[in-house]
Amino acid sequence: MPNRVVIGSQWGDEGKAKIVDFLTLYADIIVRFQGGANAGHTVKAEGKEFIFHLIPSGIMHPNKICIIGNGVVFDPKQAILEIKDLAGKGISVDNRVLIAENAHVVLPWHIVGDKLKEARAGKSAIGTTGRGIGPCYSDKVNRHGVRVGDLLDEQQLRPCIKAIAAFRNEEFKKMYDAEPIDPEPVIEEYLELGKQLKPYICDTVSYLFDSLKAKKQVIFEGAQGTILDVDHGTYPFVTSSNTVAGSASCGSGVGPTAIDQVIGVVKAYTTRVGNGPFPTELQNEIGDKLREIGGEYGATTGRPRRCGWFDAPVVRKAAAVNGLTHLAITKLDVLDTFKEIKVCINYKLEGKEVPRFPNRLAQVALCEPVYETLPGWESSTSKCRSWSDLPQNAQKYLNRISELAGVKIGIISVGATRDESIEMDME
Ligand code: GDP
Ligand code: IMO
Ligand code: MG
Repeated sequence: MPNRVVIGSQWGDEGKAKIVDFLTLYADIIVRFQGGANAGHTVKAEGKEFIFHLIPSGIMHPNKICIIGNGVVFDPKQAILEIKDLAGKGISVDNRVLIAENAHVVLPWHIVGDKLKEARAGKSAIGTTGRGIGPCYSDKVNRHGVRVGDLLDEQQLRPCIKAIAAFRNEEFKKMYDAEPIDPEPVIEEYLELGKQLKPYICDTVSYLFDSLKAKKQVIFEGAQGTILDVDHGTYPFVTSSNTVAGSASCGSGVGPTAIDQVIGVVKAYTTRVGNGPFPTELQNEIGDKLREIGGEYGATTGRPRRCGWFDAPVVRKAAAVNGLTHLAITKLDVLDTFKEIKVCINYKLEGKEVPRFPNRLAQVALCEPVYETLPGWESSTSKCRSWSDLPQNAQKYLNRISELAGVKIGIISVGATRDESIEMDME
């Protein structure tokens, strides 16, 4: 079986976790490679439901190994909460969760700093999840971060935390007139967290290298989505990591030749949570209907998601920058009751019709969708388990999406649970 990257092809929350859980049937190892506890990944299977923030979405399958890779920004408190939650629901993670010793650690300064920066930004706030993601990645790139392995070594941890405290406390005082955070209790607390997490912390890069050599099958689980990528998204209304498929390689420490397929998860419509331009957004009763039927409320923050029609330029961009080999189209069932469904095929920009999603924010903000209207199917798809079970108009809609994106369909999802899935051509 191939090694697969599963990534979001829109603005996040496409249903990546559902697809990863489904594909885990065929895999041995599942790796998160970027992002942090800003991710909210929902898995519904075997009568249970979990929202994962850090633990890879394959964990509900017994005997599969789940890795938190070096490219993740790791919040130890959140990880312990998730491990306890799983154990409480009868899912053991012992010897199954591995945490990269060279992943960076989210510290209290990052979480507080994230919120202070957002509060001060006022109207130009990004609308972050408040999980400390941006500040943690900036300390990483600024080369004064704390890494997971440091939590196991007081000699190493103490000066690192003191350095961050000096830097960030000064920022808090001068920029925000905010209270400093005393580093001493933080050092004690994070050493204790390190003790609790010690059994899971290891050299995941070597583990993956040996596993790939032994022909184990790996799924690389993306977080966020392509248009939230720090390079390719609607900068600055993006997250602070590369969310695209190429990031799987450096965020887990495997060479790009290890990757055989790139599965782009797309909703059958579009959503976005947080601020920034969104050309097909529907601020009307149709948007409200998509939100209510689709349950479009953030898995991490509970915020209502902004909703709109399917946007082909967005998914074309994802196809290009990720090298998509397959689409996994989710939430088809949410469209079951619509009489007509619109699809944005191109944008109108400065008097011209353009097929591409622009790189420049000001241009994205000017894009007006050019819509095509397709007939709805007005019947339930949730019990469909094969292409031929689907109503003809649903088939037409899916074929049109695939044609507009220029990528074949690998999986169709017609409900949140593992079995509400149609596997197409995954070759
Ligand atoms: P992720 O962040 O990409 O993993 O997606 P989220 O878990 O944040 O959001 C997707 C939501 O849609 C979750 O509540 C899923 O349980 C749900 N979901 C996933 N696939 C389907 C589907 O095909 N149909 C429906 N109705 N819900 C789905
Ligand atoms: P999953 O993995 C949807 C958005 C935030 C904000 C921007 C920056 O569940 O798809 P951050 O906290 O990362 O600095 O916020 O990115 N965002 C997401 N939107 N799904 C996510 O994750 C997201 N993670 C971050 O709303 O607009
Ligand atoms: Mg999510």
